[in-house]
Amino acid sequence: MSLSKSQQIHEEAKKYTPGGVHTSIRNVDPFPVFTKGEGAYIYDADGKKYIDYQAAFGPYILGHNHPYVNGKVIEALGRTDLYGVGTTDLEVECARKIVSHVPSADQVLFCNSGSEATYHAIRLSRAVTGRTKLIKFQGCYHGWHDYVARNMLSAWDMIGKRDPGSAGMMDEAIDNTLICTFNDLDSVEQTLRNNKNEVAALIVEPIPHNIGCIMPEPGFLEGLRELCTANGVILIFDEVITGFRHNIGGYQKVAGVTPDLTTMGKAMANGFPIAAIAGKRELMQRFNTQPGGDVWFAGTYNGHAVGTAATIATLEMMENEPVHEHVFRLGEKMRSGIRDIHARLGVKAIVAGFGSVWTTYFMDFVPKNYTDLQHNDATLYVNYRKKLIERGIFKMPMNIKRNHVSYSHTDADIDYTLEVIEDVLKELV
Ligand SMILES: Cc1ncc(COP(=O)(O)O)c(C=O)c1O
Repeated sequence: MSLSKSQQIHEEAKKYTPGGVHTSIRNVDPFPVFTKGEGAYIYDADGKKYIDYQAAFGPYILGHNHPYVNGKVIEALGRTDLYGVGTTDLEVECARKIVSHVPSADQVLFCNSGSEATYHAIRLSRAVTGRTKLIKFQGCYHGWHDYVARNMLSAWDMIGKRDPGSAGMMDEAIDNTLICTFNDLDSVEQTLRNNKNEVAALIVEPIPHNIGCIMPEPGFLEGLRELCTANGVILIFDEVITGFRHNIGGYQKVAGVTPDLTTMGKAMANGFPIAAIAGKRELMQRFNTQPGGDVWFAGTYNGHAVGTAATIATLEMMENEPVHEHVFRLGEKMRSGIRDIHARLGVKAIVAGFGSVWTTYFMDFVPKNYTDLQHNDATLYVNYRKKLIERGIFKMPMNIKRNHVSYSHTDADIDYTLEVIEDVLKELV
């Protein structure tokens, strides 16, 4: 049997790398090997073109290989890179922009991944409060480290129970992370009551996009703000997905709720590696980048010219062009188009989403937390995506994953995608 180019590369990858992939959930079926990305499109090693809605899990708010961002990165690399001492003009400009746009950001520090940012936010919270425990929500994802890697995409019978995401985690880390239910303020209030004066921080994705798109009910984020303030708990908005994608000021700007600390990454630099932690000055000054600070903050590659130049360029695009207007309009066009198809074909499904993000849950009520997603038909969800992939529409072939539109997608891309969706649903349902 002759193997396609993609299959040959996959076979080769497995020789050198466990599973042939560099992040666990990249090992999907069908196994893709993409070799070119341009705007809204990606191409596999065999030359097949796809409209990309996976967007590498969210960074591509402008589209792949965006000429303005790439140009600014190349220009920066023509003169500068990384020094490991002092600061750079790019770091200062990048920080100034973030502080000027993000409501909770009096000050900001750069690191390289969202996981680093959430780690720093939690350690800072523990230092500031002198407390140990952390609250997170079932289904939310905040990175791979021990503080947060529990009760993510739990098996349905493990919801809310002790569910570490990895072997080798420290028991102490697992057991000091308490699990609450999203959109359920009573569960948070009760957890705070049962752990009085022991909770350092509460971390939340203001919209849990790691499970598709579950919107916070009116009053939920405000309620978290009030409970955290009343109990001396640091409120961390993990805006690694929502930040910059939903608004240049983050979802906190849309919601009108200001956390104490914010973590950011992904859409911040349109695919280049950089992340950030920002927050109130009195908290941020505890980091030991400030003389006298006692919370360790370091990283060889922090503030590299590639990430800072890319962030500046991405934010300039958002400042100067109708990026959000475009992705919000196309996101809504996609959602309403899919709803019309469902109505025509009698498909029972919920089209969830916000702004540029959407997903179709195959269930008959609007889910408000991870528990509700048990009612989604997971087999249909994944089969639907696999059929779309066959037809050149790339979405992650995995249950409850979201889709993204970028500034590079066009009305014609959405119209074509809707045509294919209708064909595929006719076949499947
Ligand atoms: C909300 C959220 N926080 C943190 C992270 C971790 O970011 P990274 O993969 O850059 O470490 C992710 C990654 O998907 C995320 O979605």
